Amino acid sequence: MLKINYFCSLEKTRMRDLFERIKENKGPLGKWASQAEGYFVFPKLEGPISNRMSFRGKEVITWSINDYLGLANLPEIKAVDGAAALEHGAAYPMGARMMSGHTDFHEQLQNELAEFVEKEASYLLNFGYQGIMSTIDALVSKDDIIVYDLDAHACIIDGVRLHMGKRFTFKHNDMESLEKNLERATKMAELTGGGILVISEGVFGMRGEQGKLKEIVALKQKFNFRLLVDDAHGFGTLGKTGAGAGEEQGIQADIDVYFATFAKSMAGIGAFIAADKEIIDYLKYNLRSQMFAKSLPMIYVKGALKRLDMLRTQPELKANLWRNVNALQSGLKAQGFDIGTTTSCVTPVYLNGSIPEAMALVKDLRENHGIFCSIVVYPVIPKGLILLRLIPTATHIQEDIDLTLTAFSAIRERLENGTYKRLSAAVSAAMGE
Ligand SMILES: Cc1ncc(COP(=O)(O)O)c(C=O)c1O
Repeated sequence: MLKINYFCSLEKTRMRDLFERIKENKGPLGKWASQAEGYFVFPKLEGPISNRMSFRGKEVITWSINDYLGLANLPEIKAVDGAAALEHGAAYPMGARMMSGHTDFHEQLQNELAEFVEKEASYLLNFGYQGIMSTIDALVSKDDIIVYDLDAHACIIDGVRLHMGKRFTFKHNDMESLEKNLERATKMAELTGGGILVISEGVFGMRGEQGKLKEIVALKQKFNFRLLVDDAHGFGTLGKTGAGAGEEQGIQADIDVYFATFAKSMAGIGAFIAADKEIIDYLKYNLRSQMFAKSLPMIYVKGALKRLDMLRTQPELKANLWRNVNALQSGLKAQGFDIGTTTSCVTPVYLNGSIPEAMALVKDLRENHGIFCSIVVYPVIPKGLILLRLIPTATHIQEDIDLTLTAFSAIRERLENGTYKRLSAAVSAAMGE
């Protein structure tokens, strides 16, 4: 019976060229390319980028660079990066870590990172995205169960996609939902004979909320699981020493596998995982994205050593960052803006409007107020919501904040009085929005 249906459906189906669908449907974001590319997405950056940058020949205040501590342009950082480039070129070491991509400097950086985040050992990753995917892949077998936050970053979702066994999501930062799913996962694990991996983030990068790590860890009293935390936005910005969200919440020791990238407060490229030595020893022989891809180049290794040293020895960098975070967030709140429930440097501003209105609004911000920030719309967030995402850094000055607050008041007024609706009417009609 099944066989007949199978052949019937084959008969009915017209096979087509693979690219036909791609040409017809460019995807939820791709469909905006003709309206957005080069301006809203893939804007071309020019010259040095700090609290200010040049955009289409005009100076703008920049709120969309993850250089939290303002390290990227410091002369002492550039000197180390430059010296490493001169000595080693961009390629060194040429091979994958295991075969021909390992040096004393890689090892030194791992030791220093492990000490900084209070773990026994750490292992470098050439990119965070692939690195955490492989970490998830290596930590679980088909009998194990993954339970992860519904708002997890794409790299976690992609890592979970590699998993051959069961997975459950829990509602974002919702401990009741986590508990329910841990109960289901525990029942399942009792059948399969596997274990449970819970995955959350130190800071959720869109809304800026810290993961409820303390509450998650408390559930270890009731359930048997291991915790992996992606602390991309927490590392360098949270905690007394800058060791991240675990330190901030006082539960760093209970994070079983800690992940952070160099792409944010370290103003570089690369990432690392940190855990007990036995776990790192296992991971370094089982992370496919590291075993079969090139090692982190020396420029980034030596650069990261310098950056880590500055993180440790110059607490004023983090103090300057937080001075700006607090001034910006309290200024926005005082003006009645909805900045959601952020508990980190990530500063979202929520407004109501369509995608075409959001485009008109951001154009106004950039062209008439000299403010450059990221815009997030559906399908990343619910339809009808506009999220302007501001990333304060240590390099911003009070004038940047004051000008931004004035500009935000002006654009809110125009959004509410329908100016952007009128300006974007043609785009709305063309896009059927
Ligand atoms: C939460 C989170 N995890 C992982 C990554 C990926 O890190 P990388 O840029 O090092 O690949 C990012 C983005 O940078 C991120 O925001």
